[in-house]
Amino acid sequence: MKITVIGSGYVGLVSGACLADLGNEVLCLDVDPQKIALLNSGGVPIYEPGLDEVIKRNVAAGRLRFTTDAAASVAHGLVQMIAVGTPSGEDGSADLQYVLAAARNIARHMSEHKVIVDKSTVPVGTADKVKQAVREELDQRGLRDATFAVVSNPEFLKEGAAIDDFNRPDRIVIGADDDTSVKVMREMYAPLQRNHDRLMVMDIKSAELTKYAANAMLATRISFMNELANLAERVGADIEHVRRGIGSDQRIGYHFLYAGCGYGGSCFPKDIRALQRSGEEFGLPLKVLEAVESVNEAQKSVLLNKIIRRFGDDLKGKHFALWGLAFKPGTNDMREATSLVVMEGLWAAGATVTAFDPVAMEETRHIYGERPDLNYAANPNDALDGADALVIATEWKVFKSPDFSVLKARLKQPVIFDGRNLYEPATVAAQGLEYHGIGREGPLSGAPPAAA
Ligand SMILES: NC(=O)c1ccc[n+]([C@@H]2O[C@H](COP(=O)([O-])OP(=O)(O)OC[C@H]3O[C@@H](n4cnc5c(N)ncnc54)[C@H](O)[C@@H]3O)[C@@H](O)[C@H]2O)c1
Repeated sequence: MKITVIGSGYVGLVSGACLADLGNEVLCLDVDPQKIALLNSGGVPIYEPGLDEVIKRNVAAGRLRFTTDAAASVAHGLVQMIAVGTPSGEDGSADLQYVLAAARNIARHMSEHKVIVDKSTVPVGTADKVKQAVREELDQRGLRDATFAVVSNPEFLKEGAAIDDFNRPDRIVIGADDDTSVKVMREMYAPLQRNHDRLMVMDIKSAELTKYAANAMLATRISFMNELANLAERVGADIEHVRRGIGSDQRIGYHFLYAGCGYGGSCFPKDIRALQRSGEEFGLPLKVLEAVESVNEAQKSVLLNKIIRRFGDDLKGKHFALWGLAFKPGTNDMREATSLVVMEGLWAAGATVTAFDPVAMEETRHIYGERPDLNYAANPNDALDGADALVIATEWKVFKSPDFSVLKARLKQPVIFDGRNLYEPATVAAQGLEYHGIGREGPLSGAPPAAA
């Protein structure tokens, strides 16, 4: 099948490359000429495990191409898959300008029937707006009889495991109001269906809402655990025991129950805000989500608060090692990462930082440029030298089993603030290090009491 993917970011690039890998002829369009030039010269603009090999393989086979040529991209695919960004607008609602620009662009160039697929995460009612934008453009061109369909096909892949998620999705949600488009979608996804039918066909609005509902549920679990972690600290319980105690209940399950220093990324924060705005727009404030968001905002400062409680609020002359910059492991995505809140808070209090991240240091340089209070280390242990404490913001695998004697020897003060609960408090304490986890600071955790 000939498929055009509009937007070559995390979702567009992964979807385009994986669809090409299934034997389709895919043309990826982007408005960013630098991104397309990089892709055409064999580079990959994002870090996603395994993606470069899939791209290379399919470019070499002639099944995957990249362009900035809008007319060519519209001419190419029966399926026009929109995978552009939907960032938060000023009021928190999803900014649809890129989606609608992509839709209008299709209408300006199309000369035959197209199936327009909304893969971007968009609020209920967006498919109607896309239809209206396309119809307006076609009318302007005098093409009143031209036909097209709009389908909602939200994407559920996770950065860091995106290739696997695309190839082995839990479900493929299709929102459509015509059988022909459903047939096209079935054909496109047929190779992913061999094991069992993963396609869920529903009306368009339900499909649009399903994506937000999924992210809202996951974010709710995280904020719920973070709030309980804070209570666990007050009452002297250990949130890790609590997590195992409730996760073992099959009605609850273990996923997304880890307490930590808050969620970030390109999806949860903006999607929670967008769903709240949708609720308000329809006269139904979503109170649970208000709480989810405000708990998360506060939780992003939890590491900073612990550091200030331990070292005082004037951190001039203090130096911190920071392990982890990306909003989660497996990606270089820094959007709304907790590390940003930690670094900015430390700088504001006068401290300096040496950071290490396996893949996100370049992205951090893009954000902050060169500054005297931020250095980068070549490996995790090099970041420790002369630091008053180690702060962990991302649960990369490489941080999970450190040699604690090396940590103790290289840190100026043997103190760890672990925003992802990577270690057992008692084990760390037994090695002579002071340990501050999340929800694990009670007397039963084995951690020494924090100094005033
Ligand atoms: N990143 C994720 O993990 C993830 C997962 C599921 C869903 N989503 C959703 O998918 C959508 C895309 O997210 P992303 O993270 O891939 O975004 P991104 O910012 O990485 O990529 C978007 C790309 O679209 C391009 N673009 C913008 N306007 C364009 C236009 N008119 N024509 C062609 N290209 C255009 C941009 O230049 C950019 O390269 C969002 O709605 C997001 O919520 C993201």
